[in-house]
Amino acid sequence: MEILAFGVQADEKPLLEKAFAGYHDIRCLDVFLNEDTAPIAVGREVVCTSVNCELGSRVLQTLAAGGTRLIAQRSTGFNNIDLPVAEGIGLTVARVSYYSPYSVAEFAWTLAMAVNRRIVRAGNRTRDFDFRLDGLMGRDMHGRTAGVLGTGKIGEAFTRIAHGFGMRLLGWDVVENPACAALGLQYVSKEELLTRSDLVSLHVPLMPETTHLIDAAALGAMKDDAVLVNSSRGGLIDTQALVTELRAGRFTGVGLDVYEAEAGLFFLDKSLEPVEDDTLARLVTFPNVLVTSHQAYYTADAVTQIVDATVRNVLDYTAGRRSENVLVPRSTD
Ligand SMILES: NC(=O)c1ccc[n+]([C@@H]2O[C@H](COP(=O)([O-])OP(=O)(O)OC[C@H]3O[C@@H](n4cnc5c(N)ncnc54)[C@H](O)[C@@H]3O)[C@@H](O)[C@H]2O)c1
Repeated sequence: MEILAFGVQADEKPLLEKAFAGYHDIRCLDVFLNEDTAPIAVGREVVCTSVNCELGSRVLQTLAAGGTRLIAQRSTGFNNIDLPVAEGIGLTVARVSYYSPYSVAEFAWTLAMAVNRRIVRAGNRTRDFDFRLDGLMGRDMHGRTAGVLGTGKIGEAFTRIAHGFGMRLLGWDVVENPACAALGLQYVSKEELLTRSDLVSLHVPLMPETTHLIDAAALGAMKDDAVLVNSSRGGLIDTQALVTELRAGRFTGVGLDVYEAEAGLFFLDKSLEPVEDDTLARLVTFPNVLVTSHQAYYTADAVTQIVDATVRNVLDYTAGRRSENVLVPRSTD
């Protein structure tokens, strides 16, 4: 069988081809799956997707009509797939429920410290042989308070690093993680976390209940000099409200690896095209904001684990096996 993989990055292609060798052929496309590209998948039993593929009802219907039976998503998050529709039309859906949480947690810390210590501006200055320190003053993290919204696998890894910095630890989650509590993390309400934290990092999934978790009221509750990091999903933050706060001069720094309208932009080269997204255009002009394009997971370790798990998901599907990665089981199960 030849599997069709959408949204494949250049570094990822050889890893996918190597992992599938001896099992199935794989054809890697750099385009993302959406309403325009779905017809390419006609006749493909297995379609392999990534976070910025758009698997809404129409795309799923097109896939099912074309003979697709398995969607193998190469990520943990699956908010881009309409699961009830997939189930209703008999499409099996699998994702990668576990890969290195350190990849994302370490990147969230990279963003936090980059905006706190003005690393991008400092690098740009020294390249210009401008060695002044004006405007580059940061703050120690030691002794300050980290607020972790979502203390699952990535939130826990983030908390361990915060503990290493010698920070006070606050957490908010619907389920308490004993490993975080053992590090001294105190579970509080979201409001208390936002009010008390010097660093707020988001690690909850995007769901209807968490959409715009950080809205105007939440941003208003945060300290004026806080650092805010989002390495989870863009839709957790009301970006327009964030821009309003930034215009008012608030926050030491904001690090964003995800953006609510990132589909169709992130992972693509748009440098020679007119900028259509005014909100993103405004966001990147703030000197205290750093935006990266959904690269937190992008380590050799994590991508290798994702690719290997994706191969296992396809082999499990063909053998009729169920695993913890299956979101929608085969309709014959
Ligand atoms: N930027 C990237 O490259 C990247 C990569 C991987 C994952 N992510 C994002 O990180 C998120 C977290 O990943 P993880 O592996 O830690 O997941 P996880 O399932 O281990 O942890 C998520 C945590 O959120 C909590 N949670 C769920 N719903 C909640 C709610 N309504 N209110 C409060 N807490 C809630 C859960 O109880 C859990 O503790 C993923 O959902 C994904 O969106 C981003």
